Amino acid sequence: MAALMQADLSEHLRRVASGKVREIYEIDDSSLLFVTTDRISAYDVVLKNGIDQKGAILTQLSEFWFNLLQSRMPGLRTHFISLGIPPALQKRLRPDLVKKLGSRSMAVKRVKVFPIESIVRGYIAGSAWSSYHNDGTVCGITLPAGLKESEKLERPLWTPSTKADLGSKDENISPEAAARIVGQEYADQIEALSLQIYEEASAYAAERGIIIADTKLEFGLDESATPATVVLIDEVLTPDSSRFWNAGTYEIGRGQESYDKQYLRDWLVRNGLRGKPGVEMPTDVAMNTLGRYREAYHSLVGMVWDMATSEV
Ligand SMILES: Nc1ncnc2c1ncn2[C@@H]1O[C@H](COP(=O)(O)OP(=O)(O)OP(=O)(O)O)[C@@H](O)[C@H]1O
Ligand SMILES: [Mg+2]
Repeated sequence: MAALMQADLSEHLRRVASGKVREIYEIDDSSLLFVTTDRISAYDVVLKNGIDQKGAILTQLSEFWFNLLQSRMPGLRTHFISLGIPPALQKRLRPDLVKKLGSRSMAVKRVKVFPIESIVRGYIAGSAWSSYHNDGTVCGITLPAGLKESEKLERPLWTPSTKADLGSKDENISPEAAARIVGQEYADQIEALSLQIYEEASAYAAERGIIIADTKLEFGLDESATPATVVLIDEVLTPDSSRFWNAGTYEIGRGQESYDKQYLRDWLVRNGLRGKPGVEMPTDVAMNTLGRYREAYHSLVGMVWDMATSEV
């Protein structure tokens, strides 16, 4: 099977947004079809070719987490409505599109997206490690001296960032700056929900031998509810939005091997292709990266990923 680079639903439905990886279409006034393609981005640039099955793995891993979080946090509201293409909508689409897109689609509630990314870090890695290494702070928060790379933080940190338009880079901001963007009351709710989601997800993942070093969440406001309610949206706890480490090989004081795009990033850097547009991955790099996504799904969900049985 070839990787699916475009959802191609525009002849049937109005497309309301297109990100680096997802395309979002209007079902009706209150719901959207959230379609995850096989596109992959690294260093904020989308590659020319994709990773076959990746969109379906991310969709079904997010569905798994929506259900798990909902059962552990009964008060949590999420945008998830149903997996696949709703039957009433299927009738409006070409049958080949229904077959092609079902396993990578979900119906979601339409909400007003808060223009910040809500990042929780339990360990110090990535841009947080670089920032701490420079001046001892992360998002304006001063951390204790002497932390080592990949060390577990005393308590998880909420480190929001801006949500940049397509083509630009998100920037880390202080919690105070986030409150200026969304308002103090919503910032407080987003922070509390994010920390609770991180705690619940980390506890679950730990039982399966996985450390969630950090994760990026997004939230929206459901204005049709009274009072308006903060809702968890987007993808949740996938290898694209999180740093998953193998607890068995974890070691403080160095970078860790991740179940994410690191393999691809390393290949790009080794070949001087970091941030260059129009790069095509060779088959072995695509296959190895797919292997990482499958492994993450297997470890977290506890079932071997099988495209054939994942048809929706
Ligand atoms: N329920 C929802 N209603 C409206 N928009 C949503 C909803 N859930 C998620 N979104 C938005 O849909 C987009 C998802 O697309 P995608 O993940 O491809 O974007 P991206 O963030 O540009 O890429 P990347 O994740 O690689 O940074 C995001 O902009 C996200 O904020
Ligand atoms: Mg995204």
